[in-house]
Amino acid sequence: MQDPQRYQQVNNLQNRDLEDILKEYPLEWKQKNARIMDIGCGDGSATTCLWTKYIPEKFMTIIGSDKSQACVNFAKANYENERIKFITLNIEDEIPSELKGCFDHVVSNYMFMWVQQQEKAFSNIYKMLAKDGNCLLIFLATCNIYDNYIKLSRTSKWNPYLKDVKTKFISPYHESQDPKTEITSLMKNIGFRDINIRVQNRWFDFVRGIEEFKDMMKSFNPFDGLEDKWEEFTEDYVKLDPNAGTFVYKLLVVSGKK
Ligand SMILES: C[S@@+](CC[C@H](N)C(=O)[O-])C[C@H]1O[C@@H](n2cnc3c(N)ncnc32)[C@H](O)[C@@H]1O
Repeated sequence: MQDPQRYQQVNNLQNRDLEDILKEYPLEWKQKNARIMDIGCGDGSATTCLWTKYIPEKFMTIIGSDKSQACVNFAKANYENERIKFITLNIEDEIPSELKGCFDHVVSNYMFMWVQQQEKAFSNIYKMLAKDGNCLLIFLATCNIYDNYIKLSRTSKWNPYLKDVKTKFISPYHESQDPKTEITSLMKNIGFRDINIRVQNRWFDFVRGIEEFKDMMKSFNPFDGLEDKWEEFTEDYVKLDPNAGTFVYKLLVVSGKK
């Protein structure tokens, strides 16, 4: 994500879901001196202001990580303190040895659907966890936005921009008949135990309706050249789906232990 400042103004959906899930399914947190890794921390606000509301307050450290240097710079400038740090890390790359076996909890909100190499990412989480450590990952399986982007990618007008829509944007589970079984098997093969996967049907009305939807999508648009045509693109999107102000989706809540 290249525009953390904009994202911070429009992350109501991601914040609402994170708090709902943390209230509904409290993680088995280490009560004292916990070391936590938050993958795909974006602007850093959820790491600092939301996760910390639910993590026992005597935690030792939280590291927020993101593959985007713009996000890490923004998070460092706005949120870093003695116990909360931010680093650049792509969860699909090799994990540096100093991060292996170091975390009691690895968490992530609204990031994992961006990961194409799911097995590599789950295996990296396993490597980062200490023995008996656990993970909690919240991310999209399917949503109405994906269907609309796929339709637009098939038009001659938008195809040149959205050629890579399936690998750059769509959740790997969007077309899966049974993401629960797929992820369970992947995690089991890596060595995770106490695996728990929930699939929730949810919807969200953007607070400012379609305008907020447009701003949110712009903040993490991954397609080169599209930003310069954003008004035109989102106008066509809204013609295709006049209910763009409502987000309808299946959310995955995945947990497991090392
Ligand atoms: C929608 S934001 C979520 C931010 C934050 N977790 C929240 O709850 O508001 C998703 C973030 O994941 C990051 N991301 C995407 N793919 C990643 C990867 N392979 N490794 C690390 N971060 C990644 C993006 O740069 C972006 O900042």
